[in-house]
Amino acid sequence: MTTTDPHRTQQDPASGEDAGTPADVGPWGGPAEARTVSLARDGARKRQRRARSIPHGTDRAQTEPKPTRPLRPTLRGWLGRGGGQAVNVVAADEFRGTTVQVCGLYPFSVGTGTPMIGVPLGKNLATGASVCCDPISWFQRANLLSNPSMFVLGKPGLGKSSLTRRMATGLAGYGTLPLVLGDLKPDYVDLIRALDGQVITLGRGRGYLNILDPGEAHAAAARLQGEADRLNRAAAAAVGSAAATLRAEGLKVTRLAAQVLADAHGRRHTMIAALLTILRAAPPTDREEAIVDRALKWLDEHHEGIPVLADLLAVIRQAPDEVRQVALDRGDLNRYRAITEDLEASLIGLTTGGRLGEVFSRPTTTPMRRDRPVVYDVSSIDDSESDLQAAILLACWSAGFGTVNVATALADAGLEPQRHYFVILDELWRALRAGRGMVDRVDALTRLNRARGVGLAMISHTMSDLLALPSEEDRMKARGFVERAGMVICGGLPGAEMPQLTAAVPMSGAEQQMLASWQDPPAWDAVTGHEAEPPGRGRFLIKVGGRPGIPIRVELTRAELEVNDTNKLWHTTSRAGRQNAAAPSDPVDVEVLP
Ligand SMILES: Nc1ncnc2c1ncn2[C@@H]1O[C@H](COP(=O)(O)OP(=O)(O)OP(=O)(O)O)[C@@H](O)[C@H]1O
Ligand SMILES: [Mg+2]
Repeated sequence: MTTTDPHRTQQDPASGEDAGTPADVGPWGGPAEARTVSLARDGARKRQRRARSIPHGTDRAQTEPKPTRPLRPTLRGWLGRGGGQAVNVVAADEFRGTTVQVCGLYPFSVGTGTPMIGVPLGKNLATGASVCCDPISWFQRANLLSNPSMFVLGKPGLGKSSLTRRMATGLAGYGTLPLVLGDLKPDYVDLIRALDGQVITLGRGRGYLNILDPGEAHAAAARLQGEADRLNRAAAAAVGSAAATLRAEGLKVTRLAAQVLADAHGRRHTMIAALLTILRAAPPTDREEAIVDRALKWLDEHHEGIPVLADLLAVIRQAPDEVRQVALDRGDLNRYRAITEDLEASLIGLTTGGRLGEVFSRPTTTPMRRDRPVVYDVSSIDDSESDLQAAILLACWSAGFGTVNVATALADAGLEPQRHYFVILDELWRALRAGRGMVDRVDALTRLNRARGVGLAMISHTMSDLLALPSEEDRMKARGFVERAGMVICGGLPGAEMPQLTAAVPMSGAEQQMLASWQDPPAWDAVTGHEAEPPGRGRFLIKVGGRPGIPIRVELTRAELEVNDTNKLWHTTSRAGRQNAAAPSDPVDVEVLP
């Protein structure tokens, strides 16, 4: 076979024919032409010889540059014409089995990879491969989850909040806004501040949240109505299908404006009902709810500016006709006073300080923004004030989701870019235990997160915490949070937890053992006298449905360690009572020890 193809780089293995047969005379006969052809052939022959020569250690092989000829066929066969090169390489069949079965196939077995989509969390403990994971990316981009939510479980101090902070940081980098609607510790304040977000402090004497404040709802509704009017005007000027499209758009935007207002009204009403429930330890009656509802509408129509709870109380005392109608006083003012007496007493409690009042009864100090990461710092409220904690968490959730609604409506109308939020409900067990109605509230949030365009992270310690609620109905709902979560991330957990956990998330025996081993206590370091790091710190198992879990170790960067330190108060030794201690600023009698 004669080969003049300059790309041909190896001998035809079938024929073994020498392609470079000497030919001094060209086929066209004339001497000048023959010379040109012969020169061209010489060049081609040299290249062929160089390409075919196999380095045997001869002098030429050592002096000439190394041939580029591949010594074995490539994945697609021998390169070039006649080499049998395949156009397509068929992927090998893959089979999945347990490590007990597939170990016999060594070295052809490989661990399943994890999608490299989402926030980089750390290394896979089994393979050392990088693991990227967060509920929003796994739902939106990787299509691995049924809804963008996660539930994190694990014993205290093993790094649950740190893991969630990592996700929040990464998601903020992707353009998702973290919203921490009630930070009881505070775990997230430093991070949100570092992300140039908004830190809203709430608490007695620290900051107030007016539950009658519609936030940005009124301004957004006015903006939407303006856009609807513009579209309607454009529709009137246009003809044919363009006019129909513009009219339909205008109608849609008008509906969005009405929805924003209705949502803001509903939220205020729900919050008053929730506060009354917490205050009285019993829900308000239907009639009281109707009175509050009508009084709020009356306020909207007649009150200048943003009302506070005291204005609502004043309206109920004033007894306008609309309110008296729903109170069913049958035209008797004395009967009206008797009907509204309990409600009035509760509202007096809410407006004049008392157990819950102060924080909710004054104008909002810092309105929440929808274009920034936000944290509500409610850490000043003591754990012993569980009623106030419950009320303030509810108010934060209500304000937060109200803002999300406004943002979604404006994005739907094309007035603002579509924003996604990552809502973090840390220390969920405290919120759930804080009072009646909390479970229902979280239940509603967990069901709606997909529709609202928010990712949700719920964090708690153990399943037993969730199942320690007083009523059976609440316990079932709380277990539903774990069952419905798109992914469950487990840290170290005691062995006694496993029956309850596996009832909600299927886990193999090996996975259960792994979780139990991560909750072992840390060893004493005999040299330094310090305790070593707990074995389970930063180790988590990512479970999605019934799939095998992905064990990971979260590695914090130095920058993160600075904002992640939740043990800050323990870094300096207490100096009280020491000789060299700085003089106390308070004039207290400090006994000086020898
Ligand atoms: N992966 C990690 N590597 C090193 N240190 C870590 C890691 N994760 C957490 N830590 C450290 O452990 C401490 C406790 O972490 P973190 O507050 O996240 O735990 P937690 O599980 O949320 O605790 P709690 O249940 O009490 O809220 C912090 O000081 C944090 O810096
Ligand atoms: Mg925590």
